Amino acid sequence: MREKLLSQIESFEDLPTLPEIITEIMDIVQTEDFSIKDLKQVIEKDPTLTAKLLKIANTFYYNPYGSEITSTERAIMQLGTRNLLPIVFGLSLTHIFTIKGNNFNVKLFWIHAYTCAHIAKRISKYFSLPEPEAFTTGLLHDVGKIVLYKIIPKEYIKVIHLTEKENIPMYKAERRLFGLDHTEAGFLLLSRWRIPDIIKEPVKYHHEPEKAENYKELSALINIANIFARTSGQYFGKDTYGIDLEEAPGWKILKERAKVKNTEDILMPITDDVEEAIEFATIAWG
Ligand SMILES: [Fe+2]
Ligand SMILES: [Fe+2]
Repeated sequence: MREKLLSQIESFEDLPTLPEIITEIMDIVQTEDFSIKDLKQVIEKDPTLTAKLLKIANTFYYNPYGSEITSTERAIMQLGTRNLLPIVFGLSLTHIFTIKGNNFNVKLFWIHAYTCAHIAKRISKYFSLPEPEAFTTGLLHDVGKIVLYKIIPKEYIKVIHLTEKENIPMYKAERRLFGLDHTEAGFLLLSRWRIPDIIKEPVKYHHEPEKAENYKELSALINIANIFARTSGQYFGKDTYGIDLEEAPGWKILKERAKVKNTEDILMPITDDVEEAIEFATIAWG
C-alpha cells in the first residue's frame, strides 16, 4: 500500500497545483527591494482574493481601532508584508481542495488548521520563533489528511473508524493501515509544490518533533500548537489521545527556551485564538 500511495502522491492528477499567486508572492518577497506596489499588482489580479484580504485587514485582530481600510496598499501595510504570504496561503488553499461526499468535514478541518495557525503564531514569541512561518506551518500541518482522503477516500474512512474505536492518533491508524501517514503525505505534496524546508519539515515532524533535522524548534511549536488546538475542541477526528502538554514531545524540546514557565499563561488566551480562527476561516471560505 505504501509504495502505491507514494507513487500516487507523485503523479495523482487530481491533487491541486499550488495557486500561481502564491508562487508570485513568494518570488516577490524573496527579492530584497520589493515594494508594496509589486504586491498590490499581483493581488489585484484576483478580485475575490483582494476582497477577502480587505476583510482580513479590517478584522479586530489586524485593525482594532483604525478607520476602515479600503485600498489594497493600506491593507498590505496593515497586515505587514511578512504576514501577507501566510494569509494568502490560507485564503487560497481553503478553496482548492474540493471534497466530494460528507465523510470528510472540510470546514472542521480548516477551522482546526486556522486554530493551530493562530495559536502557533501567538505563542511563537515565547520561544523566539518566527511568526509568519509558525502561522503557515500551523495552517498546513495536517494537509496530508486531505491528500490521502482525495486519493483513497473509501480506505481513509477506515482510519477515522479505527481512531475512534481504539482511541489512537490518526497518524498511527494511517501508518497501521497504509504504511504511510498524513505527515509524510503532506510533506510530499509540499515538496511537489516546492515549498521551502522551513515549512515542509515541521509539517513532516509535527507529531514527532524530536526526529526533525533542521527545524526542530518550529516542529515542536506546531506539535504543541496542535495539542492546544485540540484542547480547545477545534479539531478534526474524534480521537482524544494525548492532550496533556507536559507529556507532549514538543514541550520537552521547547521547555528550556520558553520565556514563560507557567503553561497556563500560554494557554489562557486560547478562546481568543479560536474566535479569530473561526473568523478567518469564515472569510477564507467566503
Ligand atoms: Fe497531524
Ligand atoms: Fe492537527
